[in-house]
Order: sequence, then C-alpha cells, then structure tokens
Amino acid sequence: MSNPFRLGVLGSGKGSNFVAIADAVACGKIPAQVAVVLSDVESARILEHARERSIPAQFIPPGKFRTKLDEEAEGNFVKILSEAKVDLIVLAGFMRVLKGEFLRAFEGCIVNVHPSLLPSFPGLEAWKQALDYGVKVTGCTVHFVDAGVDAGPIIGQQTVPVLDDDKPESLHARIHSAEHELYPKCVAAVARGEISVVGRKVIWKK
Ligand code: GAR
Repeated sequence: MSNPFRLGVLGSGKGSNFVAIADAVACGKIPAQVAVVLSDVESARILEHARERSIPAQFIPPGKFRTKLDEEAEGNFVKILSEAKVDLIVLAGFMRVLKGEFLRAFEGCIVNVHPSLLPSFPGLEAWKQALDYGVKVTGCTVHFVDAGVDAGPIIGQQTVPVLDDDKPESLHARIHSAEHELYPKCVAAVARGEISVVGRKVIWKK
C-alpha cells in the first residue's frame, strides 16, 4: 500500500475494539495501517495487544486529573500522534475527555465508539444506564469527536436488544459484539473517503 491511511488508536482498557480494527486492517477490510497505539493506563491490555502485533505502543502518563489529560500529557499525545503522521485518531475505550490543544490539532479527524444509541445515555457505563432506565433496545454508536461529551456527528449505529434477564455484564457483552462489527466498517468508510460531514449529518457516499 503506497502512502497508506494512518490510524492512531487510543485506549484505556482491554482493547477488544482495537483487536477488531487491527484484524480488519490485517485482512484488508480497512485500507489503512495502525501507526501507533497509546494509552493513559500503563497496564492496559490494549498495549499488549498492539505489541503482540508488532505495532508501536506507548503508555503516556495522563497527569493529575481523573477525567481529562493535563496540559503536559495533552502535549505529549499530540506530539507523538503528529510525529506518527496519523490521518485518523480512533478512540477505542479511551476513558478521558479530550479537550483544548488535542481537539484543535486533530479537528474532524477523531472518531469514538460509545456503548449506547446516542444521544441516549452519554457518559460512563452506558449499558447500566440503559438497563436501569428499562429500554428494550440499546446498541452502539460510532461518531466524530467534538468538544461535547459523546456529542459529535454520528457515523453509524447498531441496535442490540435488551433481554428481560440481562445483567450489566451480559448486556455489555452483546453491545461489545455489535461494536466489533460496526467500528471497523465505519473506520473503513472514513479511510476510503466515503464519508462527508454536512453540519451534524454524516453522509455515506456509497
Ligand atoms: C467499549 O464498550 C466502548 O464503547 C466503551 O468502552 C469499551 C471499551 O472496550 N467506551 C466508552 O464508554 C467511551 N465513552 P474495549 O477496551 O474492549 O474496546
């Protein structure tokens, strides 16, 4: 692949969405290369998954805040992603809100997967929120990231039924499976240039 589309993946946890994307890249379903994987959690399994695939992977200390990166950390993330010449930043279970310099540096080039049908249940543990609310259908959403929390233009959504005997774990597992189908399809469409954004609307050209 000459001049491949370059992905920078950020995650804080077990990295199952990263694995789905890396597998889709490996078998040619996403015309791209994973240039780098970064985490704010030193022990995050996502870093091991990347190293097992010989993809550069690095822990970046997030700094003093709990829910966002501090200024120094933000600068470090931006520097590494810029040096890696990434075309798209893929948030795969990255549990900090991105702000300021980061958003300015990569405006319109960051995507996220969220475990609910947005705009329902933004924020943490969306599958528990759905269960507590009593909805019959939930799902997952892939969206562009803007300054709001789980608020940017929606690229794709996939529904998942909520069963009467669901526990948080069983529902989250079902949503995870849907994410593993939806996220690679959305990243592939962005990498192929098949997507355009008009205001809040994301148009699939094909
Ligand atoms: C996924 O369910 C993702 O939707 C969620 O974290 C999980 C990460 O799983 N992200 C958020 O809640 C972000 N608001 P993974 O590490 O196995 O990909």
